[in-house]
Amino acid sequence: MYVCICKSVTDNQIRRAAARGVDNLLELQQNLGVATGCGKCAGAAQDVLDKANALEAGPVFYVPSSA
Ligand code: FES
Repeated sequence: MYVCICKSVTDNQIRRAAARGVDNLLELQQNLGVATGCGKCAGAAQDVLDKANALEAGPVFYVPSSA
């Protein structure tokens, strides 16, 4: 799905960038050009990036202390 129409950037491209270590919108803009046209996609691009990076980090487990 296209996230950025101006620069023809898809959600898959953003996920692949996240897998390469991109973790903020500025880096994403520099890598893919997303949100460098009209800028209306910045929020959606950030959302896809955040979710991709959350998945990269893996699940968070709660381990209760024994005290
Ligand atoms: S839709 Fe991404 S910069 Fe315009």
